[in-house]
Amino acid sequence: MDEPLTVALPKGRLLAPAAELFRRMGWRCDLNGGSRQLLLTEPGTPDRPPMRFLLAKPADVPVYVEYGAADLGIVGQDVLWESGRDVYEPLHLNFGHCRLVMAGAPALRGRDLGLAVGLRVATKYPRLAQTYFQGRGLSVEVIPLSGSIELAPLVGLADLLVDLVDTGRTLRDNGLAEITQIAASRATVIVNRVAYRLRLARIRHLLAELEGANGQLYGQPEPQAMPA
Ligand code: PRP
Repeated sequence: MDEPLTVALPKGRLLAPAAELFRRMGWRCDLNGGSRQLLLTEPGTPDRPPMRFLLAKPADVPVYVEYGAADLGIVGQDVLWESGRDVYEPLHLNFGHCRLVMAGAPALRGRDLGLAVGLRVATKYPRLAQTYFQGRGLSVEVIPLSGSIELAPLVGLADLLVDLVDTGRTLRDNGLAEITQIAASRATVIVNRVAYRLRLARIRHLLAELEGANGQLYGQPEPQAMPA
């Protein structure tokens, strides 16, 4: 019998729809129930090798996959881009849609930020934020935070923020406004480059199953542009 493939799944918002894909494919994938188990091996059948699921922080999923501790994973593209990890990204999924935006006080909308000096930008995405501002010739100080980014402009820690918007409610409830969209993100499948070559048939088969389950559950994803 084949060694199991190992799939890294992200804790948080993407876990339920990602686990649902595998359930649709016939796996139990019971990682978001009552247990705190982080690693789960499910036995195979005569025509299907076993599968192993691991549960990681979203930012760590690309790390497990790049190092080959997981053969493949599901993660938000925002997290993947920020990680800069070298993995193969063969399949986009049709859930986890959100937008990476620059936001701030409504008065900043329409202002020429090129004229401002010493702007501070709070973000959970320091790499993407730095790339975005550098690409526009704007010199800003990026302040990395790990959450509740919308707080930073309210208390004078930063002038702007770069963060995800889903419904827009957090910005609205904190009196902030979107200034520019930097990128649109969704859930995506990533694969370890070596595993993809060495276990090609098995991984391709799994990708085809994932694509089918994604279509049935969430519809086919639209083609997508890379971040600005
Ligand atoms: C995310 C994101 C925004 C919020 C956007 O934070 O960083 O704060 O959700 O969602 P909305 O547009 O639907 O309001 P999350 O809830 O993951 O918590 P965090 O701020 O602690 O990272």
